[in-house]
Amino acid sequence: MVTAEVAERPGASPEEAFEAVIAAEQRIEPRDWMPDAYRATLVRQIAQHAHSEIIGMQPEGNWLTRAPSLRRKAILLAKAQDEAGHGLYLYAAAETLGVDRAELTEKLISGRQKYSSIFNYPTLTFADVGVIGWLVDGAAICNQVPLCRCSYGPYARAMVRICKEESFHQRQGYELLMTLMRGTEAQRRMVQDAVDRWWWPSLMMFGPSDAASPNTARSMGWRIKRHTNDELRQRFVDMTVPQAEHLGVTLPDPGMSWNEERGSWDFGEPDWSELTRVIQGQGPCNAQRVERRRAAHEDGGWVREAATAYAEKRRAEAGASTGTDAGTAGTGTGAATKTDAGTETEQENGK
Ligand SMILES: [Fe+2]
Ligand SMILES: [Fe+2]
Repeated sequence: MVTAEVAERPGASPEEAFEAVIAAEQRIEPRDWMPDAYRATLVRQIAQHAHSEIIGMQPEGNWLTRAPSLRRKAILLAKAQDEAGHGLYLYAAAETLGVDRAELTEKLISGRQKYSSIFNYPTLTFADVGVIGWLVDGAAICNQVPLCRCSYGPYARAMVRICKEESFHQRQGYELLMTLMRGTEAQRRMVQDAVDRWWWPSLMMFGPSDAASPNTARSMGWRIKRHTNDELRQRFVDMTVPQAEHLGVTLPDPGMSWNEERGSWDFGEPDWSELTRVIQGQGPCNAQRVERRRAAHEDGGWVREAATAYAEKRRAEAGASTGTDAGTAGTGTGAATKTDAGTETEQENGK
C-alpha cells in the first residue's frame, strides 16, 4: 500500500510515489506501481531463493533413511518439511509479481534459473547433516534476517516466518554436532572432516566479493538488500568462530586471526574459481540435483492434474458464493503435494 505522504500528494507520478515509499521505509505491495527492473530483480532473487529451498532438501534428504535413531530421523524429516514450506511461501511471493510457479519450475529444471551453489556438494556422512544445520542454515540466517526488512511486502513477510524456522535448523545442527563431539574419537574426526569440506562453500554462499558484484548497489538503493556480500560474510565469520571454539573443531583457514582494530576476524579468500565452476554447473552434484528435481516434478504430474481437476469440480459445484475453500483440499494430501502441487492450488494458499 502506498501510504507515504509524498505518494498521497495529488499529482505525484508513479515513479515519485515508488521512490517515496522506499525512502520512507514502507513496503511496496503487489498492486503498487514499480519499475520493471525492480520487478525483474525481485522475480529473479525470489525464484532463486525458492529453488534453493526445494533443491536444498536433497543433500539432507539423502540421510533420511539412514538417520542413526528415530529421534534424529524425526528431526531431519521436520527440517526437510520446513524447507518445502519455505519454497512454497517464496513461490507464492514470486507469483504476486505476475509470474507463474510452473514457469519458474520449468526454468529451474531446464537450467535457466539458478539455486544456491551450496547444494551442489555431496553429504558424505551423517555429520554433514549437523554441519549443514550449523554452517549452511547459519549462513542463510545471516543472509535472510535483513530480508525481513526488504522493501517488497510479500517477500519481507515470508522471510519473517522462514527466519524463525531457520534458527531452529541452526540449533538442531549445532546440537547434533555437540552430541557427536562428546562421542568417540571417530565421531569427532567425522565432524572435523565435515567442517573442512563445508567451510569454504559456506563462505561462498554470500556470493562473490563486493568488487565483483555490480548489482549490489542498485539492490541496496531499492532496499531489497541491506548489506553487501562482504559485510554479511564478515558477520557470519564473526558469529561462527566462537561457536567453532566451543564445539572443539578447527576452521580450515590457518590465516584466520582476530583484528583488534576492526573488532572482527580476518580470514582468507575463498577460491572464487570454484564458485564460478559450481555456478556454471560443474559442481560435484549439479547434474544429479537437477535431474532428481525433474524426475520428482514429472512423478508429481498426476497430483497436479488431480488437484486441478478437483478444484475445478469444487468450483463448479459450489458456484461463486462458496468458492474460497478449494485450496485447503490441496494441502492435506501429504508430502508429494507440498513440493509438487499445481499452481492453481498454490495461488489459493498464497492469498
Ligand atoms: Fe529454508
Ligand atoms: Fe533451513
